[in-house]
Amino acid sequence: MLYKNLAINEAGHLTFAGYDTVDLAREYGTALMLMDEQMIRSRCREYKNAVSDYLPAGSMPLYASKALSFKGIYRIMREEGMGIDVVSSGELRTAVGAGFPMEHAFFHGNAKTDFDIRYAIENRIGYFVCDSADELDAIDKEAARQGVRQKVFLRLTPGIDPHTHEKISTGRIDCKFGAVIENGQAEALVLQTLSKANIELCGYHCHIGSQIFDHTPFCDAAVAMLRFMAHIQKNHGYQAKILNLGGGMAVPYTKNDPSIDYRANIRSIGSLITETCKELSIEEPVVLMEPGRSIVADAGMTLYTVSAIKQIPGFKNYVSVDGGMTDNPRFTLYQADYTVLPANRMNDPAAFTCTIAGRCCESGDLLQENVLMPQLQRGDLIAVLTTGAYNYSMASNYNRIPRPPIVMVGEGGPYIAVRREQLDDLLEYDL
Ligand code: LLP
Repeated sequence: MLYKNLAINEAGHLTFAGYDTVDLAREYGTALMLMDEQMIRSRCREYKNAVSDYLPAGSMPLYASKALSFKGIYRIMREEGMGIDVVSSGELRTAVGAGFPMEHAFFHGNAKTDFDIRYAIENRIGYFVCDSADELDAIDKEAARQGVRQKVFLRLTPGIDPHTHEKISTGRIDCKFGAVIENGQAEALVLQTLSKANIELCGYHCHIGSQIFDHTPFCDAAVAMLRFMAHIQKNHGYQAKILNLGGGMAVPYTKNDPSIDYRANIRSIGSLITETCKELSIEEPVVLMEPGRSIVADAGMTLYTVSAIKQIPGFKNYVSVDGGMTDNPRFTLYQADYTVLPANRMNDPAAFTCTIAGRCCESGDLLQENVLMPQLQRGDLIAVLTTGAYNYSMASNYNRIPRPPIVMVGEGGPYIAVRREQLDDLLEYDL
């Protein structure tokens, strides 16, 4: 099994965190999103322990909540002592609703509106990660209006190619995010920030991309950022105290993906930071990291019921299910790989190669191709693994399909963390 919270019971059913998926599907219906709470918590602890063991005092991981945002997840992050990254007033509102301490929240994004800035300062956001000169002016103005000195990081582009999917690569020079180090724009933004009366510059941020298996690009980015820190210190006398290296560590989605040792990666990054700071004769900064996917992806699973099987001789076999791109658009968007299992027939011989298709009215609505399954029937249960990140948070109501619930399996058993959308919920905003 890909993850250790999965097993097969005596009925030949897939179990998730010790619970029979067939029972869970019967109780909560499908499509159903399951999350293993202990797995989320233990990954938070793995990051926290490694960060405190290998990075300078005060360093901490922030959960990038774009991966999966609902009230319960911010409560877990609060309990685990994680900071958070939010990227919209909606994520911020959800965190506030969960009682998350805002001094540990970082507001990201390349297109913050006046409303976002006002709302975030009203809610005493810890830090903005400022993406442009225009945003800097807007924050300065609003901070003055509200009578605060706002803490800010600057998002910089270190010019690193992380060799991941084009759409989730963000550290290269041609990118909508951040100010470019190489051409002097980053330096100009620092000077502009230092001249603002209502802004306190705390440090620099970069994020090079997502689903990155190798730790080398993170090390390269850290070195580029430290060099920049040293350059600014030497030439302008400003010493940044904090360096935020963003998120991006990968998660294995199939057995062909390598497994990732997050602790070892953090150790390598930590020792390179120490070495580089010595070389550059600068003090070691506090280091922040922003994992999203690697906190929640493998803790999630989606269950679907098979609606139809269609065999087209000489072409493909389609297995259609009661969900699809509305709850998981990642195959449609990125041809993302997933492991798909026949949850109620785990011991049946698998000799049927098929395409798992969603229920939306377009041919591109697929969940996976070339999946080996046993002979399936309408009513069978399909499990898609590793759906905790960027599934529910990217879900939509296309074709007026209600979103599935999130059922969390915690120490005391399963409980509904987000209820299933009902048909009438879809009419809520229609006048
Ligand atoms: N920090 C910043 C500033 C980010 O933009 C992101 C992700 C993260 C942290 C977290 O990265 P992670 O640890 O999750 O890789 N929808 C895409 C992924 C988009 C990632 C966007 N930014 C997908 O489904 O693969």
